[in-house]
Amino acid sequence: MTNTGVRIAGVGHFVPERVISNADLERMFDTSDEWITTRTGMKERHAAALDQPTSDLALGAAQHALANAGIAATALDCVIIATVTPDYAFPATACVLAAKLGVPGTPAFDMEIGCSGFIYGLTVAASLVRSRVFKRVLLVGAEELTRLVNYEDRSTAILFGDGAGAVVLEQSDVDCFLGAELGSDGSRPQDLLLPFSGTAHPPLTGDDIAQKKNTIVMNGREVFRFAVTKMIDSTNTALEHAGIEPKDVTWLIPHQANRRIIDAAAKHLDLPSERVVVNIDRYGNTSAASIPIALSETVAAGKLHDGDIILFVGFGAGLSWGAVAWRWSTNGKGH
Ligand code: ACO
Repeated sequence: MTNTGVRIAGVGHFVPERVISNADLERMFDTSDEWITTRTGMKERHAAALDQPTSDLALGAAQHALANAGIAATALDCVIIATVTPDYAFPATACVLAAKLGVPGTPAFDMEIGCSGFIYGLTVAASLVRSRVFKRVLLVGAEELTRLVNYEDRSTAILFGDGAGAVVLEQSDVDCFLGAELGSDGSRPQDLLLPFSGTAHPPLTGDDIAQKKNTIVMNGREVFRFAVTKMIDSTNTALEHAGIEPKDVTWLIPHQANRRIIDAAAKHLDLPSERVVVNIDRYGNTSAASIPIALSETVAAGKLHDGDIILFVGFGAGLSWGAVAWRWSTNGKGH
């Protein structure tokens, strides 16, 4: 069985209506718009309603991507969601999404690898298409991290937002997947962790909940250092695997965790700021959703052209990291 190529046939995104601005955060704890803006680049982030599960955000992004691809959900052969904030520990949110899309019976599964979720998901989904296991795969990054934030911890509460982004991948004569680099180091889970969320701790007690032990714990400085190093290392290795040079990169679409991390990676790659996609000011860190939201907005703005080389790069809990080099192709169909 010979391989086929893969391309992105459609993109979409969806964010919930409610906005939490830096001014809102100033009213909640001791912080300032000036501190948040200069340290992170964030101005506002969106937050889902309590009756709006992750699968609902994923549905909005998926419908947008299907419309953009010009196909019906019935044309999908597989549904994958990258998320750390599933509707339930089980069943998989992708199964719920497939049912909401009206295509129960479609193979569906979740991937959980923190903010690297879209990078890992793109590599897996593209491989499933290239190896002819599936003709069309829907990949969604969808998160509601505002549910996991301790709003008494100002160093993490400012960072996270909710949203979803989606791509439809399909078999193609042109192969858009050029190369990837993935990695993980689970030796220091405490650097970025949601404790009391699985089997490593005894079941939560009322006291644990009162002490907010089931909210995000992060060693911001360590994660910052790790992020800059891994963004640079993994982009270099992915480019090497793809056989291309940094100068060939048309667009850097990085995980949106901190403006300063993005700027450091772009500087190292010698990419001018016009070629680096940044929307962190409006969405904050939406984990696995940040890269596909940024991609969808770039397509909607008409900025991508056939033959452009995109470098997707991300990092997150695990700790984990990865980069994918991707050629943009509309196959003459437009987006
Ligand atoms: N407002 C005002 N002051 C603050 C705030 C705030 N919101 N948060 C922290 N500070 C204070 C600290 O208390 C500290 O004060 P001190 O010097 O008196 O002790 C001071 O600011 C400096 O704190 P640092 O932690 O050194 O600040 P830093 O510049 O490192 O910024 C930040 C903190 C924004 C968290 C940064 O470290 C960062 O972005 N780290 C990476 C986070 C990240 O990328 N996470 C990815 C998650 S991916 C996933 O999988 C979920």
